[in-house]
Amino acid sequence: MVENALQIIQNKVTLSKINRFFTDEEISQLVEKYGTPLYLVDEEALHDKVLELNRAYEKFHGHVKIAYSIKANFNPSILRTFVKDNITFDLTSLGELFFIRELNINPENIVYTSVTEELDEYKQVLSYGVTRIVVSSYFGLVNLAQAANVVGIIPKVMVRMNPEVGVKAEVRASYKNGKFGVPLNGGKVDSAYFIVKSIFNNPLLEFEGFHFHLGSQITDFVCYVNALDRLNSLLNKLKKEIPNFSLKTLDIGGGTPVFYNEPVPTPSEMSSVYIEKLNNLVSSHGKFTLMIESGRYLVAESSIMVSKIVNTKEYNDHKIVILDTGYHLLLDAALLKQEYPQEVISTKNNNNHLYFSDSNKQYTGKNIHLVGRLCDTLDVFPTSKLSDLSYANIGNYVLFYNVGAYSLVFNMPFHCQTKPPVLMKTCEGDIKLIRKGTSYKDLYEEEGGLIS
Ligand SMILES: Cc1ncc(COP(=O)(O)O)c(C=O)c1O
Repeated sequence: MVENALQIIQNKVTLSKINRFFTDEEISQLVEKYGTPLYLVDEEALHDKVLELNRAYEKFHGHVKIAYSIKANFNPSILRTFVKDNITFDLTSLGELFFIRELNINPENIVYTSVTEELDEYKQVLSYGVTRIVVSSYFGLVNLAQAANVVGIIPKVMVRMNPEVGVKAEVRASYKNGKFGVPLNGGKVDSAYFIVKSIFNNPLLEFEGFHFHLGSQITDFVCYVNALDRLNSLLNKLKKEIPNFSLKTLDIGGGTPVFYNEPVPTPSEMSSVYIEKLNNLVSSHGKFTLMIESGRYLVAESSIMVSKIVNTKEYNDHKIVILDTGYHLLLDAALLKQEYPQEVISTKNNNNHLYFSDSNKQYTGKNIHLVGRLCDTLDVFPTSKLSDLSYANIGNYVLFYNVGAYSLVFNMPFHCQTKPPVLMKTCEGDIKLIRKGTSYKDLYEEEGGLIS
């Protein structure tokens, strides 16, 4: 009993760290108007994260640029918010470029890192005026040079290296024989060394610097130290062989972690592990611009998903709590077993509490199960150590916190499910509908229902 009480106190303390930008009452009112499931976004939190990330690199002896990896959440209103912060945008596809063009974002504020690196793709990217391009293969470089020739623009080329260092992260992007980038020396033509030399031998291209991306939700930052050590050796080698070699930009990718199940280091704590290495690179190789990419950290904590408990079942000392959402709206809960912090709130008009006055006392975290509405075994939401499900009764709402990254962008119509609306609380305190919910009719049409 004592242990249980302590656990609850701990939960409350840690949940209070969560960005909770609407009161229970306000959420009830929004749900009355828009229904559930519903996403809520806090604009102020987006600006705050940019500030925090900038602050973390204040001690770097050079210029710092923050780049938002729009793959994490490409909602146009969120992109517009970041435009106000005058940050750079990290793009990976022509679809993302389309969004950026629609928003008239200055091509100088773009870094483009393709996986496919097709000729036509590079032509379109350069034609929009984007010059900072990250290449990840030798054939990619050949295509870029050809596109540069056609479009008549000299791109500033960054080389995506795969440092092949071990990474402790939820998603790893640096590993031996990996898909991303090229190893430092590995292949005949597909090596960072060979590609840099090729750039210096080609008047259609200008060498800008290096890029690496180690992974997402990184929790041990020694991988950055190891990657920077490997880069330093390569820089020394290149300097000896290329007389006019200089590093103008170093992009160290994403990976800044977010608070889900466990507290994680702050961006400043993270950068403190390798800032000295970065400054040593400046001392040895001259001043360069440091680019920090971030998707997850910049958007995750801005958003809450609200769902409703629509049914419950109790057997064998377990309680199954059935929600009107599912992994079709929060895919990482199934893909990565992401433990989003959840909290149940009592609804104003919910009279069901009369039947459940102290109903959940016997359930601890382990025997209360939040499950989704899909007819799929995977559709069970892992709970976080912070989750507070004490009021998990029919009619109440479950808030999923920190869902702003890699969530809306994964929404899918599995089981003929529609997309929920998204509301933004603006910095002025207004509430704006930033994505309309879709209807079954929309879905039917989209799936070809009107084609006879
Ligand atoms: C090249 C690159 N940069 C940045 C990111 C963003 O990573 P995170 O969301 O962990 O900051 C990704 C994510 O996949 C990526 O592939």
